[in-house]
Amino acid sequence: MDFDQVIDRNEYPTLKWNKSMLIEHFGSEDVLPLWVADMDLRAAPVVIEALLRRVKHGIFGYETKSDGYFEALIDWYTKRHQWAIDRTHIEHCPSVLNAIAVLINQHSEDGDGIIIQPPVFFEFRLAIRNNGRRIVKNPLLLDNGKYQMNFADLEEKAADPKNKMLIICNPHNPTGRVWTRAELARAGEICREHNVLIISDEIHGDIVYGTHRYTPFVSISDELAQVSFACLSPAKTFNIAGMTDAMAIIPNEEYRQRFHDFSDRLWMNKTNVFASAAAEAAYSEGSEWLDDVLVYLQSNIDFLRSHLRETLPQVKLIEPEGTYLVWLDFRALGLDAKELEKFLAHKARLALNPGYWFGREGAGYARMNIACPRSTLCEAMSRLTKAIHELQRGAA
Ligand SMILES: Cc1ncc(COP(=O)(O)O)c(C=O)c1O
Repeated sequence: MDFDQVIDRNEYPTLKWNKSMLIEHFGSEDVLPLWVADMDLRAAPVVIEALLRRVKHGIFGYETKSDGYFEALIDWYTKRHQWAIDRTHIEHCPSVLNAIAVLINQHSEDGDGIIIQPPVFFEFRLAIRNNGRRIVKNPLLLDNGKYQMNFADLEEKAADPKNKMLIICNPHNPTGRVWTRAELARAGEICREHNVLIISDEIHGDIVYGTHRYTPFVSISDELAQVSFACLSPAKTFNIAGMTDAMAIIPNEEYRQRFHDFSDRLWMNKTNVFASAAAEAAYSEGSEWLDDVLVYLQSNIDFLRSHLRETLPQVKLIEPEGTYLVWLDFRALGLDAKELEKFLAHKARLALNPGYWFGREGAGYARMNIACPRSTLCEAMSRLTKAIHELQRGAA
């Protein structure tokens, strides 16, 4: 696959490249977009071919998910992650955030606390706040360049009977941690002991590097499976986020029935024929493509790491274990959160997610999406290098 090819995405109103989005979020359209979490890499040929076949059929009436789809999905998780998903545990919904919002609504009341682990994917905050719940923070600890869960603090937060759920980002956006089985099990046991239910957002589960392994939360033990929900989607893995299709895996029968009834009530149970065709092809034949993408992403990270080390030692890379979202530590520049935001957008001319978007714990950091052709990343690094050198010359 030629992932070096630069594809113009401005033909369509993408969230990432759209000029009005850039102006709204960065105050300028003259920024190189490395923010929204999708890839600037073309999807797998098997996915494109499956979609073309589906289009050529010419009839796009109501459908359901096919047996082939379920087989491909289950086979994917069994082979890649040694997790045999029980087909009857799968509930479909339009997106992972949709699943999270439904679960929050079903398992907590107005004003209840939902625990998150910042710095973390900012839309968790919206999912909690927009549904009238309270954000309870269990911030991660940065220990020797590696983020860790703070179990003592989690114990305290979970023990408060007003706190009903924990959302774990597994793997973690934006810090790139791929939580180990032991870490997840410990967090899970703390929650279980205090009747706190766990939502595990596993949308980035397939994007892991080296020896790191994604652990599906509900596969840890039967006991934890009964008090947890896994949210999955082919969106990030195969770069088909615009298809909008996701799943909640709910082993607990009563909770699953509640989700199912709600889904029926709100007609969330419709199937998009293109999303189904794309996902079935991706899960059944997309493995090699994903392996190639992972090699490419890893080489982008290697390039970034060596560029920073040799040319910009002021900026520290938090070594990603997974995800294509890289967390950069700009604290040595001595800028406050707003100054750093302005500097990145107006001086470096880069659209990176400012760290404070992920909670105040992210101040001084920024998230860079490295799922782009190498030349885009090179351009980003050259803009950043020039801007930082100018900043430091000005300060000297
Ligand atoms: C951790 C995480 N969860 C959920 C989403 C969004 O998923 P969806 O588009 O299926 O709602 C993203 C997208 O960036 C994400 O990073």
